[in-house]
Amino acid sequence: MLHIVSKLLCVSHTHTIKKLFFQSPLSRFLEKFGKKMACQDLVFAVNGEKFEVFLVHPSTTLLEFLRSNTPFKSLKLSCGEGGCGACIVILSKYDPVLDKVEEYSINSCLTLLCSINLCSITTSDGLGNTEKGFHPIHKRFAGFHASQCGFCTPGMCISLYSALSNAHNSQTPLVYLTASAAEKSISGNLCRCTGYRPIADACKSFAADVDIEDLGFNSFWRKGESREEMLKKLPPYHPDKDLVAFPDFLKAKIKRQRNVLDQMRYHWSTPGSIEELQEILATSNSGGDRGLVKLVVGNTGTGYYKEVKQYSRYIDISHIPEMSMIKKDDRGIEIGAVVTISKVIDALMDEDTFGYVFKKIGIHMEKVANHFIRNSGSIGGNLVMAQSKNFPSDITTLLLAADASVHLMNTAGRHEKQRICEFLVSPPIIDTNTVLLKVQIPSWTIAASSTTTGLLFESYRAAPRPLGSALPYLNAAFLAVVSQGDATSRGITVDKCLLAFGSFGGYHSIRAREVEDFLTGKLLSHSVLFEAVKLLKGIIVPGIDTSYTEYKKSLAAGFLFDFLYPLIESGSWDSERKHIDGHVDPTLSLPSLSSAQQVFESKEFHPVGEAIIKYGAEMQAAGEAVYVDDIPSLPNSLHGAFIYSTKALARIKSVGFRGNVAPVGVLAVITFKDIPQAGQNVGYISMFGTGLLFADEVTTCAGQIIALVVADTQKHADLAVKLAVVEYDLKNVEAPVLSVEDAVNRSSLFEVPSQYQPEPVGDVSEGMAEADRKLRSVELRLESQYFFYMETQTALAFPDEDRYLVVYSSTQASEYTQAAIATCLGIAENNVRVITRRLGGGFGGKAIKSMPIATACALAAQKLQRPVRIYLNRKTDMIMVGGRHPMKITYSVGFTSDGKLTALEITILIDAGIDVDVSPILPKNIVNSLKKYDWGALSFDIKVCKTNRPSRTSLRAPGEVQGGYIAESIVENVACSLNMDVDVVRRINLHTYESLSKFYTESAGEPDEYTLPLLWDKLEISSDFKRRAESVKEFNAGNVWRKRGISRVPIVYHVMNRPTPGRVSILGDGSVVVEIAGIEMGQGLWTKVQQMVAYGLGMIKCEGSQDLLERIRLLQIDTLSMTQTSYTAGSTTSENCCEAVRLCCVILVERLRAIMDEILENARSVTWDMLIQQANAQSVDLSARTFYKPESSSADYLNYGVGASEVEVDIVTGRTEIIRSDIIYDCGRSLNPAVDLGQIEGAFVQGIGFFMNEEYTTDENGLVIQEGTWDYKIPTIDTIPKQFNVQILNSGHHKNRVLSSKASGEPPLLGATSVHCATRSAIREARKQYFSWKCVNGDRRDDSDVGFELPVPAIMPVVKHLCGIDSVEKYLECKTYPLK
Ligand SMILES: Cc1cc2nc3c(=O)[nH]c(=O)nc-3n(C[C@H](O)[C@H](O)[C@H](O)COP(=O)(O)OP(=O)(O)OC[C@H]3O[C@@H](n4cnc5c(N)ncnc54)[C@H](O)[C@@H]3O)c2cc1C
Ligand code: FES
Ligand code: FES
Repeated sequence: MLHIVSKLLCVSHTHTIKKLFFQSPLSRFLEKFGKKMACQDLVFAVNGEKFEVFLVHPSTTLLEFLRSNTPFKSLKLSCGEGGCGACIVILSKYDPVLDKVEEYSINSCLTLLCSINLCSITTSDGLGNTEKGFHPIHKRFAGFHASQCGFCTPGMCISLYSALSNAHNSQTPLVYLTASAAEKSISGNLCRCTGYRPIADACKSFAADVDIEDLGFNSFWRKGESREEMLKKLPPYHPDKDLVAFPDFLKAKIKRQRNVLDQMRYHWSTPGSIEELQEILATSNSGGDRGLVKLVVGNTGTGYYKEVKQYSRYIDISHIPEMSMIKKDDRGIEIGAVVTISKVIDALMDEDTFGYVFKKIGIHMEKVANHFIRNSGSIGGNLVMAQSKNFPSDITTLLLAADASVHLMNTAGRHEKQRICEFLVSPPIIDTNTVLLKVQIPSWTIAASSTTTGLLFESYRAAPRPLGSALPYLNAAFLAVVSQGDATSRGITVDKCLLAFGSFGGYHSIRAREVEDFLTGKLLSHSVLFEAVKLLKGIIVPGIDTSYTEYKKSLAAGFLFDFLYPLIESGSWDSERKHIDGHVDPTLSLPSLSSAQQVFESKEFHPVGEAIIKYGAEMQAAGEAVYVDDIPSLPNSLHGAFIYSTKALARIKSVGFRGNVAPVGVLAVITFKDIPQAGQNVGYISMFGTGLLFADEVTTCAGQIIALVVADTQKHADLAVKLAVVEYDLKNVEAPVLSVEDAVNRSSLFEVPSQYQPEPVGDVSEGMAEADRKLRSVELRLESQYFFYMETQTALAFPDEDRYLVVYSSTQASEYTQAAIATCLGIAENNVRVITRRLGGGFGGKAIKSMPIATACALAAQKLQRPVRIYLNRKTDMIMVGGRHPMKITYSVGFTSDGKLTALEITILIDAGIDVDVSPILPKNIVNSLKKYDWGALSFDIKVCKTNRPSRTSLRAPGEVQGGYIAESIVENVACSLNMDVDVVRRINLHTYESLSKFYTESAGEPDEYTLPLLWDKLEISSDFKRRAESVKEFNAGNVWRKRGISRVPIVYHVMNRPTPGRVSILGDGSVVVEIAGIEMGQGLWTKVQQMVAYGLGMIKCEGSQDLLERIRLLQIDTLSMTQTSYTAGSTTSENCCEAVRLCCVILVERLRAIMDEILENARSVTWDMLIQQANAQSVDLSARTFYKPESSSADYLNYGVGASEVEVDIVTGRTEIIRSDIIYDCGRSLNPAVDLGQIEGAFVQGIGFFMNEEYTTDENGLVIQEGTWDYKIPTIDTIPKQFNVQILNSGHHKNRVLSSKASGEPPLLGATSVHCATRSAIREARKQYFSWKCVNGDRRDDSDVGFELPVPAIMPVVKHLCGIDSVEKYLECKTYPLK
C-alpha cells in the first residue's frame, strides 16, 4: 500500500518556508543547490508499506509523524527526551555497494523524519498484530505475564527484537543471543508496573544459553514438566521467518539515486562530501543567518537541551564519507565525527584492534546513554555538546585520558588539529560555524619485551544505574605508565600519568595536572597517595549550582585511590588487574538476575484461581491496545498545554508571550475568566471538597495552573508555554507557608473528618512508666515520590450537539471527572460523557490529579467548539501532579531492656500542599500500618498541614508506606540503643492475636486469619535467613570497602471494600459483555473479572458453559452507561468488581435455570448457545446489573506479608546493590496468581524506587527541580534485586472475602522497607569500621559514632556521606601514620 502524505505537517510553517525561500539569503543557497541536485521526495517504508511525504517542516520527528499520520501507534510518547524507550523502533538501512542491510533500534522521539529518507522502519505492530498473527516476542511477553499497563511493552519488544536481529545478523559464526545480552537488551527501557523480572524472563527465553528451568512463572508450562516439554510449549521463534526483510522497492530506489531531498520543500541538506558541506555552509553564512541553520547527525542532543529555537534548515552531515570512516593503523585509530557511538564501541572492542586502552574506552562507552541513543548519537555530536554547551560527557573524559585529538574545519575551510584538552577550552565551535571532522586516539603501547614498565588504563563512573541510562555524578579515566623500582626501593614508580575527571559540575572534563605532576617520578606509597588525594580535592571544584559537591570530590579521591592503591599493596601491576578489596566496577561482574516464584493455582472455582494470561496482553505487546492519545484526531482538532505558576504565593499581574507576539499556531489562551457564568472555577472534586481549576488573581502554589494555551499542534502548544511570560506581583501578599512548622504556627491545617481520625490504643503514660529505657523526641523526615506512570496525564474532549461533551480521559475516577467537568461548565452531569478504556499506569496519580486536565480540556472544547486534546509533557506532569506526602515525624518510645516495646507517642506533620485532595485519609492510613507492631500503647497527634506547595495526593500505599517505614525506623533505633539484633526485636514485638485485636479491633478478623507469624517463620526458612545473616557477618569482617546488611520486615496492611456496580449482558450468539466500575490500568482487573464472569455463568453447568472465558468482552467505562462508578483505588477494586459481576451472574443463572430445566424435560443435554437462543426466544432479560454493597463483616480486613533483603554497599562510591530479596505474601486464595504475582513484584520494585532511588525535590518556591528522565531515576533492570524470590501463600478459606481472595495491589510495596533497613545495617558496619580507624598523627576527627538516621531515598551521595565522606583519606592517613 502506498501512503501519500501531502498534508503540511506544520501548517503554520507554510508561511515561514515561503518567506525564507523568497526573501532570505538562503534563497541563493536554494537556487544553487536546488538546481544542482535532483529534487527528490522524502520516501521511506514503515512496516513494509511505502510512505511519501511531500512537505514537512525539518524539525518534525519520526514519532510526531508516525503517531499523527499513520495507523501505527505502537511507539508511545512518554518522556520525549530519549530516556525511557517507549518510542523506539527499528531502523533499517540498505547499503547498495555491500548489498547489506543494517538494522538497529533508535528512539523516534528525537529522530528527525527527514533523516530516515530511504530507510525502513519497523514498529512493534509491524512485527505482528491481531490481523496477521502475533510475533513470538509478543506471545512470549504475554505468556510470561510481562505486560501490565502495556504502555512500555511495545518498546520492550522492539529492544528485544533488535538484540535478536543483531545476534542473527552478526558476522561471527555461532553468535547467538546470550541470556546476559537478552537481559541487557532492555536496560534502557523503563517500566513502572512489572518490576522487570517477568520481562527479563520473556527476553531470556530467546537466549541460547539459558537454562529453561531458570525462567520464571509463565502460562506455557507448569512446574515438574521435562525440559523438552517446556521447550516445545514455548511459542517457536524462527529467525529466518520472524525477522523483517528490507522492502525491495526501497532497495531499487537506493540503487538508483543518492539520498538528496528536494531543498525547497524540505529545507534539509545532505552533503555528500566535505567540499559540498563547505559550500553549503559558506552560502548559508554569507547572509549571516547561520543561527537558523543547524548541523545534525542523530539529533539526540535535543533530548537534553530541548531547544525552543526554530531552525529553518538542517544540514545532515551523516552522509559524508570522510566523516563516517574508521581507520586503524599503528599510530592509533581515526574515527569520523558522525560515526555513531555504537559503531565506535564496535571498532574499539574489535578483536583486531590492538591496544587495551581502546578496549577499556569501549567498555566504558557501553554505559553512555542507552543502546538506542548510542545507535543514533554520534561521537562528534557528543564532543560538540560537551565543548560548546557544557554537556557532562563521558566521552571527553575518556579521550582526555587517552590524549586524543580532534580535526576541525572552520568557515574558511581551513583544517586544524587540536588536542582534546585544547579543544575543550577553545570558544564554542557551534557559534563559530566550525565543523568537527574526526577524532584521533593514539595507540598507547609499551614494548612487549619490557618487564619493568607497564601501561595502565582504567575508567570510572559513579551513576545511579550501573548499566548506563543515567548521567554520572562524576566520571574519571586514568592512564599511567609505571615501572618497577630497583631492588633497593621495591615498589612502583609513576613515570607518566594522565588523570581526567568529568561530569562533576565543572564546565567540561579536565585533567588534574597538578596531581599528574606531583605523582610523576614518585615511588608510590601510602603517604604519596594520601598527598595526591588531598591535592586532587582542591582541583575538583564543582560549579556553585552543583549539588553534592563534597560527594563529587570524594568520588574523585575514591577513584584515584582505587586506581593506585592496588599497586602500593601488591608492589606490582596487572593491566587487567582485580581490585584489591576495593570496589569492583559492578558492570564488569554484573550477574544475571535470578528469581523463583511459588504460587498456588486452584481449579475449585474454574477458571478463577488459575494463572490466565492478562486480557489483551498480546495486543498490548504489539501496541494495538488503544490509550487516549492513540484515538485519532479529527482534522480540526486542537491541542492544549498549561502555563503554570513558578511562585508559591503571588498576585498575577499579566500573562503574555515573549515579545508580545502570539507564538506560531496559538489560537487561544484560556484562563479562569473563560469559565461560563453558570459554571465554577472547579478543577477537581473529591470526597473532601473541591479545588480550583485555574489560579484566579492570586496563585497559591508553584505548579498551579494559570492558563491553558490552545494551539494547532501539541508541539506548538508546548513551545508557546516555553515562551509564555507571567508577571507576578509579590507586594501586598503575605509570606507563603512553605514548611509544616510554619503551617502549624499559622494554624494552616486541613480538617480531618471524625470518621477518618485514627483511634489511640491503650494508655501511653502507663506504657511509658513500664519502660526501663526510652528514646525521646527523635525526629525524622520523609520526602515525596513521583508517580512516573509511563503515560502522562491526558484527555481528549469533543463538543457534541446541545452543549453535550464526550471526554476521553486517562482517569482513575471517571464519575468524579464527569462531576468536575459539569460543575466547571455549569451544565448537568448527563451532558458529560466521560469514557475511559485503559490507563498507561495510574498508581493513584490519575484519581484526583487527572480531573483538572480533563476539565480544562472540556472547557476549551466547549468554548472553541472544536475537539481539544491535552497530553502533558513529562516535565509539566512532574511539576503539576505532585506526588506522595512529605512529612515530619517526632516520636518518643518506651521499651524494656529485653527489647519489648511498651509505649509510642508520635507527632506527625503531613505536608498536604495547597489543596485538600484526599489528604485527610493519610492519618488513618499511616496509623494502620504503624500498628503492625505491638507498641503496648499508642498515642499520636497527626496534623494535615496546608502549605503553599503543590498539593499531594495518593500514591500507591499512601500513608501506609510511610507508617510502615516509621515503625521500622523506630524499631531499628530501639535495637541499636540496646545493642540487640534488630531481627530479634522485631520478632518480640510482632502481635499476638490478642494484641492484634486490641490494635485493629474488628478488622483483625478471625484468629486463623492472622497469618503473619506463620509468614515470618516460613520466610526465615525459604530465604535461609539465619545462615545468610551469619555469612553477612563473615563478609563484613573480611572486606574493607564493601559491607553488607540483611533485614526482614513484616507487612500489615488494612484495606476497605467499597460499594460497586456491575453489569453482565449475554448477547444473542451467547457471547458476553461486561461493564464494571473499575478501570484497567495494568492491575489485571479485567482479567480477574473475565474469569469471575466465566465462573459465575459457568454455574449453569450446561454444555460449553465451562469454556466461556474467550467469549467475554470487557467494556470501557462510560459514565452515561455505567453510573456510580466512583474511583479505582485502594487495592480492592478488582475483588469488588468481581463480586459485583458474580452477583449479576447469579441473577442470570437463576433466570436461565428455568429455561434449562424446561429444555431438559425433552432433551438429554443442552448447550450454552442453545440455552441462550431459547432464552431470547422466550424474552428472558439477559442483562443484569447489581450494586454490590459489602456487609460489615466484609467491609475491611488486614493483609499480611514479610519481605527480606540483603544489600551490599560500596563505601568508595555509596552505591548499593540489592543482592537478594524474598517476599512472602498472603493472597488468601488468589483470583489469578499470575496477576497477583505481577502486582507483588511491581509494588515491591516501586517501593525500592521510593526508598532507594527516586529523589524528588523542589526549589524554595516548591517547584519541582528534577528534569524528567534525566534526573528522576526509577528502578531499572540493573537496580532491582539480583535474586528476587516471591512466594504467594495460599491461606485457604476466608469466608468474608470474595471467593476467599485478598488484595495485592499496594501492600507488597511496604516489603521494600527491608531494602532500606538492610542498607542501614550495611552502613552501620561501614561506620563501625570508619570510627575504628585510628592514627598517631594528624587525626583530628571526632571518632565517636553518634548514631545516624538513613534518609529516604538512600541515594548514593547519602549513603557515601554516612559511610564517611572522607573514608579514603582517613584510611590513607591511618596507613601513613599507623598506631604502633
Ligand atoms: C537520553 C540521553 C542520555 C545520554 N547519556 C549520556 C551519557 O551517559 N554520557 C555521555 O557522554 N553522553 C550522553 N548523552 C549524550 C549523547 O552522547 C549525545 O546526545 C550524542 O552523542 C549526540 O550525537 P548526535 O549525533 O545525536 O548529535 P546531534 O544532536 O545531532 O548534535 C548535537 C549538537 O552538535 C552539533 N554537531 C553535531 N555534529 C557536529 C559536527 N561534526 N561538527 C559541528 N557540530 C556538530 C549539532 O549542530 C548540535 O548542536 C546522552 C544523550 C541522551 C539523549
Ligand atoms: S519517549 Fe522517546 S525515549 Fe522516551
Ligand atoms: S507494563 Fe511497563 S509501564 Fe506498565
